[in-house]
Amino acid sequence: MYQNALPPTLTELPDRKWTRACAVAELPEDEGLKLATVPVTSVFAAEGEVFCIDDTCTHETFSLADGWVEGCAVECSLHMAKFDLRTGKALSPPAYRPVATHPVSCVDGVVFVALPADYLVKEA
Ligand code: FES
Repeated sequence: MYQNALPPTLTELPDRKWTRACAVAELPEDEGLKLATVPVTSVFAAEGEVFCIDDTCTHETFSLADGWVEGCAVECSLHMAKFDLRTGKALSPPAYRPVATHPVSCVDGVVFVALPADYLVKEA
């Protein structure tokens, strides 16, 4: 699923590496798609855009990919904290700390995410 063959159109970003995440067609409609990275990240389709955030809710250890997408936010399905998918900001308690966000680019129907250089990408 994740390969090193990246299109040359992706702009180099300092301290980040572009990683193939999935096909645009694989993105679920109302929840996220968890990526095999450490720490775990997830991608979301919302309001015509694709977003990538760290997957773990900052309230407790729970996957945000299993939450619900509402507008440009994801609601954690454990205690209902909401996070802005564009900024990572916690929008409602019980979470107060933001989640990290990561740049996304869609090229020829494929989603690429620019992860920090110290994130690990598991090979398929
Ligand atoms: S674990 Fe997400 S709101 Fe509590």
